[in-house]
Amino acid sequence: MIKTILVLASTFFVIHATNYCLRETELNDDQFFDEVHGYFNGRKPQRTVAIECPDPKDNSTCLYIVDRMGYFKDGSWFVARFLTPVPSLTKGFLSMSKLAKPIFKTKRTADTAIWPVDVGTMDVLTPNAVEFATLFTSGHFPINHNFTANFTFLGVATGGLMSFLNEHFKNIKITGIDIDPQSEYLAKKWFGYHDRDNSKILIGDGAEFIIKMAERGETSNAVLIDACHNIEPADGIFCPVEAARTPQFLDSLSKVIGSKGMTTFNVYNHHAIPDSYKRVLSDFSKHFVECKLIENYIGNVFITCFNEKERNYEVDTEKTREFLTKTRVVSFMRNLM
Ligand SMILES: *[C@@H]1O[C@H](CO)[C@@H](O)[C@H](O)[C@H]1NC(C)=O
Ligand SMILES: *[C@@H]1O[C@H](CO)[C@@H](O)[C@H](O)[C@H]1NC(C)=O
Ligand SMILES: *[C@@H]1O[C@H](CO)[C@@H](O)[C@H](O)[C@H]1NC(C)=O
Repeated sequence: MIKTILVLASTFFVIHATNYCLRETELNDDQFFDEVHGYFNGRKPQRTVAIECPDPKDNSTCLYIVDRMGYFKDGSWFVARFLTPVPSLTKGFLSMSKLAKPIFKTKRTADTAIWPVDVGTMDVLTPNAVEFATLFTSGHFPINHNFTANFTFLGVATGGLMSFLNEHFKNIKITGIDIDPQSEYLAKKWFGYHDRDNSKILIGDGAEFIIKMAERGETSNAVLIDACHNIEPADGIFCPVEAARTPQFLDSLSKVIGSKGMTTFNVYNHHAIPDSYKRVLSDFSKHFVECKLIENYIGNVFITCFNEKERNYEVDTEKTREFLTKTRVVSFMRNLM
């Protein structure tokens, strides 16, 4: 009886697979590489897969979806996707994600425009990765994938960090708020984000959202703030936007994280001079029990704030690093440049 069922099942599979092959020949690794490479016009390792202009009458609103090939020292290769204001990547980029190679290697699937995003991988040098790391390098959350928490994101960009958390941390409930509907559109169309029972994107003013939460007495275990201007403002302060720096906002935020939560700001000032970030730190510190400045080599800095009276967490640096690597916070961006 059991044997019959197995035979039927495998017959079905063979027929199915044969039908598939009639239309598409599976390519070997070298042939597939050549097909993919063909999309990149040979010389330059990048291609524009789409131009997204929220206002078709104003081309300055256009953003480019650019795929680029990268090579590792061992000869293996991959493709990453950028969101950028100019197609050449010379003016930097707003976000970057690694793509997942298709399992069926055919002429049709060689088109990277249809590849899924590998949402479970982040490059260590991206602001998202640094922001993520602060949850653990601060000793605030335990280094495991199963703790229960609710997170609030102000500014979702292309949903990269939300998707990443959804992928690795099933018990974190996430609400993202973004003032720009284009963010959610790009996140869903090009960057692999999708809503889930425990993950939603709301369109609205994130600063207002936090002020309202504080008024209702609601709390969040972590508020991650990546609220930036897309183009340079007069004062050069790209992030956070003015609304996320007012005393009223900071007081509300402090109430929302309560005594047990934490918040991290992505801060970037194009005209930063030595010590200008220390001034921001001291402004923010007035509203929390403790704030810390995290500087690194990517240009942005991060400010984390807490309200615990006695923060006395032991952080095992080596174990935390291992945990981040195991969670696929890895290095691949330098192989793209
Ligand atoms: C915007 O760009 C498109 C091509 O990308 C071009 O056809 C169109 O004329 C441009 N419009 C303006 C207002 O510059
Ligand atoms: C969560 O995972 C850690 C190891 O990663 C394990 O020690 C712990 O028991 C788990 N807790 C629950 C509630 O599953
Ligand atoms: C977040 O979790 C805390 C418990 O840690 C709970 O008190 C709070 O109501 C939750 N907030 C939301 C918005 O679900």
